[in-house]
Amino acid sequence: MAFPERFLDELTERNDIVDVVSQYVRLTKKSGANLFGLCPFHSEKTPSFSVAPDKQIYHCFGCGKGGGVINFIMEIENLSFPDAVAFLARRANMPLPEEAQSEDTSRRTRLLQLNRDAARFFHETLKSPQGAAAQEYIRRRAISPAMVTRFGLGFAPDSWESLANAMRKKGYGDQEMFEAGLVKHGRGGGVYDAFRNRLMFPVIDVRGSVIGFSGRILGDGEPKYLNSPETPVFSKSHNLFGLNLAKKSKNGYIILVEGNIDVVSLHQAGFDGAVASLGTSLTGEQARLISRYTNEVILCYDSDEAGRKAASRAIGILEKLDLKVRILQVPGAKDPDEFIKKNGADAFRNLIDASAGQIEYRLRDVEAKNPPTTDEGRVDYLKSAAALLASLPGAVEREVYAARVAEKVGVSRAAVLQEAERLRRRRIADAKKREARDAARPTQTAQPAQRSIRYDDPRSARAEEGLIRILYLDPGAAKGKALPPPESFSSSVLARLYRELLHRVQTGAAISMAVLAGQFTGDEMSHFTSVLGAPEDLSHADKAISDYIAVITGRTEDAEDDLRALAEKYRKTKSFGG
Ligand code: UTP
Ligand code: MN
Repeated sequence: MAFPERFLDELTERNDIVDVVSQYVRLTKKSGANLFGLCPFHSEKTPSFSVAPDKQIYHCFGCGKGGGVINFIMEIENLSFPDAVAFLARRANMPLPEEAQSEDTSRRTRLLQLNRDAARFFHETLKSPQGAAAQEYIRRRAISPAMVTRFGLGFAPDSWESLANAMRKKGYGDQEMFEAGLVKHGRGGGVYDAFRNRLMFPVIDVRGSVIGFSGRILGDGEPKYLNSPETPVFSKSHNLFGLNLAKKSKNGYIILVEGNIDVVSLHQAGFDGAVASLGTSLTGEQARLISRYTNEVILCYDSDEAGRKAASRAIGILEKLDLKVRILQVPGAKDPDEFIKKNGADAFRNLIDASAGQIEYRLRDVEAKNPPTTDEGRVDYLKSAAALLASLPGAVEREVYAARVAEKVGVSRAAVLQEAERLRRRRIADAKKREARDAARPTQTAQPAQRSIRYDDPRSARAEEGLIRILYLDPGAAKGKALPPPESFSSSVLARLYRELLHRVQTGAAISMAVLAGQFTGDEMSHFTSVLGAPEDLSHADKAISDYIAVITGRTEDAEDDLRALAEKYRKTKSFGG
């Protein structure tokens, strides 16, 4: 679409670059005519992004990006030129040039305006005394005022004609409101508001247009959500809640969750790449949309059966588009929102890091050690990779990575999975045997691979490792537990790590491997990585933590007794002779 030059001149005149940029970047005046701020296009700590009001241009001395106001919007909103022009036109309340518009687009434009006005109405209502109940609900869900603004949340009052009347006053007709899905036809021939007494989530597309709504009941009740119907501007299967914001994320990945509330909660915790699929199971169109903005998706669905099924369906759809998929299961919570409320943002970041580090990294390691370039190499690679798969606790993860391994050596996924399953069963049986044996000979068990680190009491050390692992991955699980003091640890190096973690858990400071690097030797860090990477069934973290604590503390004498009893028992049953 070619725009007349005069129109573009007026557009740039009415969208001063300082005003536009200020909506995204905090600009401050240093010296001279230019303004400076932190570049929105790369991460930096000292401002190298400048805006020249006289020239109406921006330039970053760090990453080299620069241009005029339209370029800025194209870049930051991820829009094409015509879409950026339309975006700025809307911002300045300028109609787009008539000749460029067909009848169809002007009807769409009208519906979009109506939606925008409705969103404003809901938002204002939320902030008014009429919105008290919704405000209370928002407080109860611990959604911050900043998120209310960022997502444009609103409240549809408990009344039959509030919205309809407000929109009529703005000049919209009942038929238009019906087409937009905002009202329904009553028996008497009139219309009534479709959304009543609900917390309103505007659905905003990647161009920044309000295309529809999702309304949540305040509290319990059915249906929990009402969504806009399919309209000329809204199609559930083609859009994602939160993508208008997530597309700007600098994290390099999109986090796909199930619930609108999860999206808000993740953004609030700083994970601004979160989106949800509007209550549908992920569609190909949605996946294609995602693939425009990222090549990596972290799937974080609810931890129930339905969520797991939905995740495994979604994986297939995403991988078809060559998207890298990671699966993140939140331990001890029904969804990411609950997990973050319980454990905080750092704990969630650790889950993300752990999901990245472990499997991908270890698979690459297997490949490096067994290059699948010859027939022999492929067999070795397959064996080692299957062993790695066998060690993964989640069935979904095993399937996903089995597909990857299968592709690498050109065998079927089923074959890889079968081998992994076989090894897994053996692993479990072996583990049982080992446990029995270790119980009988507590001092001869596994020592760290790093020669510089030795365990005096391997049995206790393993419990110490376990406690550390849970504390790191799921700090919430430790809440309310009487955690043992570091002095009760048998291993001094684990005690040091534990002391550090404990301190961080208690003060709410960040827990990550990165912040520990300064205080430990390379060997120690390597050992910690393997400790944290060991399989831990976090779905039983609560029970596990109690068991670990029991081993580490008081019950050592009991444990001795137990051990003797066990040893006795296994000596009698020959099947455990191994
Ligand atoms: P959830 O029930 O998990 O909702 O449904 P939620 O957003 O996480 O809310 P909380 O935390 O339980 O309060 C996931 C998504 O499925 C769609 C909505 O988009 C919702 O966000 N959904 C759910 C519907 O469309 N209709 C419904 O009746 C329920
Ligand atoms: Mn949910």
